[in-house]
Amino acid sequence: MRAAEAGSRRSPPVAGPRGSPYHGPLSALPGALLTLAGAGRRSTATTDTGDEGDEMTPIKQIQERHGIVGREDELATAIAVLGAGRHLLLEGPVGVGKTTVALAVCSHLGRDTVRVDGDDRYSESKLTGWFDPPLVLKQGYREETFFAGPLVDAMRGGKVLFINELNRMPESVQNVLLPALDERLLQLPHIGEVRAAEGFQVVATQNPVEYVATGHLSEALRDRFEHLALDYQDAAEETAIVVAETGSDDADLVRAAVRLTRATRLHARFRKGASVRGAIATVAIAERLRGDGDGGREPVGAETLRRAAEAALTTRVDLRDDIDADFGVALDELFELVVERGEDPDVALAPAGPLPKA
Ligand SMILES: Nc1ncnc2c1ncn2[C@@H]1O[C@H](COP(=O)(O)OP(=O)(O)OP(=O)(O)O)[C@@H](O)[C@H]1O
Ligand SMILES: [Mg+2]
Repeated sequence: MRAAEAGSRRSPPVAGPRGSPYHGPLSALPGALLTLAGAGRRSTATTDTGDEGDEMTPIKQIQERHGIVGREDELATAIAVLGAGRHLLLEGPVGVGKTTVALAVCSHLGRDTVRVDGDDRYSESKLTGWFDPPLVLKQGYREETFFAGPLVDAMRGGKVLFINELNRMPESVQNVLLPALDERLLQLPHIGEVRAAEGFQVVATQNPVEYVATGHLSEALRDRFEHLALDYQDAAEETAIVVAETGSDDADLVRAAVRLTRATRLHARFRKGASVRGAIATVAIAERLRGDGDGGREPVGAETLRRAAEAALTTRVDLRDDIDADFGVALDELFELVVERGEDPDVALAPAGPLPKA
């Protein structure tokens, strides 16, 4: 599979909202929405002058082609790491865009990419390859009866091996990667030594170890990767992502959904908050719940927003056990803050900074 295919979620030439009236870059959005989106200023607006095409930096090219909002520093680091021939590990909380950024960078480099999605039942032979028993009975153990797995395929072909959720793989599978990453070789029974061709690299993503179903990455394996940490983006960039993903032009709705979602990360009742996926889903659902009035679409009322937010956020948050855990009550408090009082949770719930020195 070509990298362009692996990452072709939005490979059309320009980034744009899907299923929406806005199919151009974010900078083509109506003024009010662009102001709301804010991040357009950083990701695409400056490239939309019509005469700048050839001068676009690689970062801007990736943003445009793959609909990536912001992430300039992270994209630059990723390109530098891969350009230096190193292996890259992207780490960060759920939904911060690790897979999106990784696939976009692989695609940008124009490299063939083999994708693997890690889980706890992934086996060593699934990664390296396996012999077909009926064929082995007829022909014995030989290259013709061996089916190369993604690791051997990537090594022999000098491709990028993209491993999504690396630390969900069992340790025995992780161990297979050690010599492949370091010495660029692998010993396989009956096949012998597999040497990596020029260009073989591994790009991996994972959630930090405290997330459910994730395991530790051995120190030895970590040591073979260069690290890129991704954290939540700011409110303006998350707004731009939600607009791009949903195509909604309802600035009030988008702002409320982004604020409610961000509040789950800051509010004392939540142990784990929702990613931007929560805001995307809230807007997408509310857009479909809203009615059509005589004069066109009705504004999304508080009740509708609450139904949408409840559906979108319940599965994406964890409440603190020590405070009487009830999602309805927690959502009431978020609504009071964000919808009734119109407050910005980034300000109202900002963690207290260090006390000034006396
Ligand atoms: N910077 C960004 N620009 C555009 N879209 C983004 C960006 N960051 C995240 N998204 C969108 O947010 C959603 C989550 O992104 P993605 O799947 O890449 O996150 P992830 O970190 O890999 O999540 P997980 O930990 O669940 O694997 C996707 O819909 C993606 O399109
Ligand atoms: Mg992912």
